[in-house]
Amino acid sequence: MDYKVVIVGIYLIASLLLCSEAPTVKMTNAVCKSYNKSWVAVHYCRLKAYSRIKTSLNINATFLEPANNIHLHLKMMKKASGYKPFLFDYTFDACEFMRKRNQPFVKLIWNLIKDVSTVNHTCPYVGLQMVHDFHHIQFPLNMPSGDYLLLFDWIFDGKPQFATNVYFNFVEDS
Ligand SMILES: *[C@@H]1O[C@H](CO)[C@@H](O)[C@H](O)[C@H]1NC(C)=O
Ligand SMILES: *[C@@H]1O[C@H](CO)[C@@H](O)[C@H](O)[C@H]1NC(C)=O
Ligand SMILES: *[C@@H]1O[C@H](CO)[C@@H](O)[C@H](O)[C@H]1NC(C)=O
Repeated sequence: MDYKVVIVGIYLIASLLLCSEAPTVKMTNAVCKSYNKSWVAVHYCRLKAYSRIKTSLNINATFLEPANNIHLHLKMMKKASGYKPFLFDYTFDACEFMRKRNQPFVKLIWNLIKDVSTVNHTCPYVGLQMVHDFHHIQFPLNMPSGDYLLLFDWIFDGKPQFATNVYFNFVEDS
């Protein structure tokens, strides 16, 4: 068999395999912050190594008073000489969402975390809240490869109470 044909064949198979790869998402940092420690105490907010190419997100926080009126401000930014607003900046009523599942985009994120969190009920929320070992990310969007920051600002009674921000690296489906 011609040596060159074999090389070309190997090259084609290799590029086919590479091209059929799904997009990969790896969380690279998690930062949580309470703006009001008499309402929200963040105990734990950390990524753990899950495998060579994966990390898992772990958050443990206590709501010291019941939260009946919760809005979530979601913002996604892409890194390009600093993080710049990109894709979306969006606020919605989280209590209404838990009653009606009425936000298609939020539902995509919800489907990712519902089985690994304590969030599966309607308002009010009080006491220990957890996200445990979240690593199964099937990102619903294809986007340009790069570093991203997804900011979650939690607003109770119209005032920001805490933030859970996740940095991740996205490699697009080629
Ligand atoms: C901080 O939390 C306390 C206790 O729940 C609440 O009464 C107060 O309104 C909060 N302050 C702000 C600025 O949201
Ligand atoms: C949450 O964090 C607190 C403070 O670190 C700890 O005492 C508690 O055991 C944790 N709870 C769970 C269920 O991990
Ligand atoms: C919680 O999760 C279960 C199983 O996925 C589902 O059947 C149930 O409707 C959920 N409850 C709420 C309040 O979302």
